[in-house]
Amino acid sequence: MSTRTRKQLGLAALAALIVTLTAATTQEPTSLKEAYKGAFVVGAAINAAQITGQDRRGDAIIGEQFDSISPENVLKWERVHPEPVTYAFDLPDQYVAFGEKHHMFIVGHCLVWHSQVPAWVFRDDKGNFVDRDTLLKRMHDHIQTVVGRYKGRIQSWDVVNEALNEDGTLRQSPWLKIIGEDYIEKAFQYAHEADPQAQLTYNDYSLENEAKRNGALALIKKLKAEGVPVTSVGIQGHDGLQWPSVENEDATISAFAKLGVKVVISELDIDVLPQATKQQTADVSMKVGQDPKLNPYANGLPQSVQEELAKRYADLFGVYLKHRDVVTRVTLWGVTDADSWRNDWPVKGRTSYPLLFDRSGQPKLAFQAVIRVGANTKTE
Ligand code: G3I
Repeated sequence: MSTRTRKQLGLAALAALIVTLTAATTQEPTSLKEAYKGAFVVGAAINAAQITGQDRRGDAIIGEQFDSISPENVLKWERVHPEPVTYAFDLPDQYVAFGEKHHMFIVGHCLVWHSQVPAWVFRDDKGNFVDRDTLLKRMHDHIQTVVGRYKGRIQSWDVVNEALNEDGTLRQSPWLKIIGEDYIEKAFQYAHEADPQAQLTYNDYSLENEAKRNGALALIKKLKAEGVPVTSVGIQGHDGLQWPSVENEDATISAFAKLGVKVVISELDIDVLPQATKQQTADVSMKVGQDPKLNPYANGLPQSVQEELAKRYADLFGVYLKHRDVVTRVTLWGVTDADSWRNDWPVKGRTSYPLLFDRSGQPKLAFQAVIRVGANTKTE
């Protein structure tokens, strides 16, 4: 073989190697966690069937796709601490073990909320409201016990959940009525005391609406000024096809970032069904009667809406990526469409399509779109 031929063959081999390497590196990632690696972790809220291994299909998706988990219900007060002296740690222990097995970023949800908290917390033996000191002690004991048990294992806690009304004022919850405004700072202090390393979040929905956003900004500003250990704001992200606009989402994240806190998108889902409430909300107490007009896709989602949902997801993930310096996590509120709370809220028994995996666990167009947004950023 002549030197020239050898050189030509060498060059051809090199070219082939470059093509192979390029193909390998430009190949689209197959998982959400891979697509957003280096930007933020991508999580899912998981339910009891997934925690206990009964939902094998769901578990396979969670293990393959996500690098963070949130407990959809098992760590809420009424579940983990149903009676004054009874804690139910069986499911929460399994939840944390699940996250550790998969080396995930584990979230705790939620410590102080007006919903899913048993009536006894606020009442004495005669049924009257307890006094401030008693309630503070109960709050302290609860936080100390629950956060303390998972110290160093749950990396981030939603400490105070949904303390604001839609107009940005403080919700008249029993916490506020009995303790006063400083119940919020006390909750953060107790959580910090129980696990000084944990990230501590104020978590709420509809923070993109101006009045509520202003209320939340004022609250965070005040907490930061007082040295309260709040590290992040959870923008829940119970979104629709139109609301919030990408500009609004962008501006909302920027506004919180300016206060020196991290931002997490803590409960993302995008509803394609007609809005059944007057206002954009995720208030779990809302109930609306059944009406076929509110359930238009009971027999399947038209391709055009699938595509609209995919574009919407891509647009929102584009905004989150733009803010990757402050957005540390994006968590989907459920795994497949069949799991979503949206099927039963605010109208019971609707067929909703808010997540990235369909009812049979297959990735939707929206999944591909989200993967592509992450992958494109990596190759830019
Ligand atoms: O587990 C019981 C079951 O035993 C019983 O037969 C059945 C009868 O209705 O209820 C089941 O519990 C339900 C539970 O979800 C588990 O499916 C509760 O009734 C129901 O109220 C509860 O809804 C949860 C909702 O919070 C209420 O707190 C949703 O799953 C959960 O996704 C939702 O999550 C909230 C966040 O914590 C805070 N932000 C808003 C978000 C969406 O509402």
